[in-house]
Formats: sequence, structure tokens, C-alpha cells
Amino acid sequence: MTSSELAREAFPQRIKRRIKHSLGPWGVFIEGFVRHPVMVGSIIPSSRFTITKMLSRVKWDECKVFVEYGPGVGTFCRPVLERLPRDGALIVIDTNPLYIDYLRRTITDSRFTAVLGSAADVEDIVRANGHEKADYVLSGLPFSTLPEGVGPAIADATARVIRPGGAFLVYQFSTRARDYMARHFTRIEKDFEPLNVLPCHLFWGWKDEEEAA
Ligand SMILES: C[S@@+](CC[C@H](N)C(=O)[O-])C[C@H]1O[C@@H](n2cnc3c(N)ncnc32)[C@H](O)[C@@H]1O
Repeated sequence: MTSSELAREAFPQRIKRRIKHSLGPWGVFIEGFVRHPVMVGSIIPSSRFTITKMLSRVKWDECKVFVEYGPGVGTFCRPVLERLPRDGALIVIDTNPLYIDYLRRTITDSRFTAVLGSAADVEDIVRANGHEKADYVLSGLPFSTLPEGVGPAIADATARVIRPGGAFLVYQFSTRARDYMARHFTRIEKDFEPLNVLPCHLFWGWKDEEEAA
């Protein structure tokens, strides 16, 4: 922005831009929430305690394709990339263009792909990126506020896209997602993270080798 453009900028807009800039990724996250509160479902990104606990059960040496639904401003993306093998791929899918633009601008890792779209289309998205299956799928979607029918459709597509031995990782304020997972994953591990705004439930739905056969 040139100095004359800055001078012409209305005072409230200038204040808004400064606040957003000083908040960094949080500013982008909050703006996304204000524009689409139901789709985002939370005003604050996940805590580092949630991230560490959720990712602790992933077998990273067996992980080549990791998919994330609802990455927001990338709270999980960086920790996933730190753990992912050098020849792995992280594909993130979000319906919010503000978040996808932000992620494309700020994460330059060659293993990273940000897709503007719905998690319900995960099979097409994984295939379009050159893979048959995903080893792990992580979801931060607000299952309880998604439009009618979307949650079950996402759970169905996820169960199909995960390879035998892989897992569906879900963190949520409510236990709604577990009901959708139970239709496809007979072995579901669970935990709870109090140090998160709001405290959240964690689930790992494992796709057993025999179950998938
Ligand atoms: C609670 S936020 C998760 C934020 C982030 N993962 C974190 O841990 O801080 C939920 C995200 O899901 C996205 N979302 C909602 N419906 C979606 C859908 N059908 N497919 C993909 N992303 C979706 C929203 O745009 C938002 O970024």
C-alpha cells in the first residue's frame, strides 16, 4: 500500500487492519469465524496440548499421505510437517477461501498442498493429487453444526479413503463425531484434553486390516 493510499484509508478500516496484523494468524482465524461462524465452529485455534496428544498415536514412519480437514490457519499443519517423513504428503482441505489463501501464502513446504473444497470430496481430492489412499485423516470439523447429512457423508468417504491399518483422528467439543465414526470403525480409542478452549474429546478410529479385507 502506498503512503497516499494509506492516508486515504478510512480511520476505522486502518484500526481494523492494524489489529488484524498485530494478531497474526489469530486475526485471520477470528476473521474467518466472524464471516462463517457455523462452519468454523470455534473462535480460538486448538491448543498445543491438543495437538501433541492427537498426533502422539500416529505411526509416522508408516505415514506417506496425511490428510487434514478444516486446517483453519494451520495450527496442526506445522506440527504435522515436522513429524512427516521427507517423502510424505500433507493435503489439507477447507471450505473457507480466506484460510486456504493464508495457508498457501505462509506454508511453502513442497510436501504441502492446500485445497479449497469440502471434506466430503476427499476421495477425488486424494486421487487428483496422485494417491490412491490416505494413511491418516485428521478432522477439526465442527460435526455438530455441519448442515444436515454432511457429517455422515464425510465419515463414509473418510472410511473409504483410509488404507487398512490407517486411522481417522478427530478432535471435537462434543461426542457427535464418534457416532458417525462408529458406523465404520469398530476400534475407536478416546481421550480428553482439558487444556483447550473449549476442552475437547479426542478419537482415533483405526481401520483394522481384517475389517478392511
Ligand atoms: C474449528 S475450525 C478448526 C481449526 C483448526 N483445525 C484448529 O485446530 O485450530 C473448523 C474448520 O473446518 C472448516 N470446515 C467446515 N466445514 C468444512 C467442510 N465440509 N470441509 C472442509 N472444511 C470445512 C472451517 O472452515 C474451519 O476452518
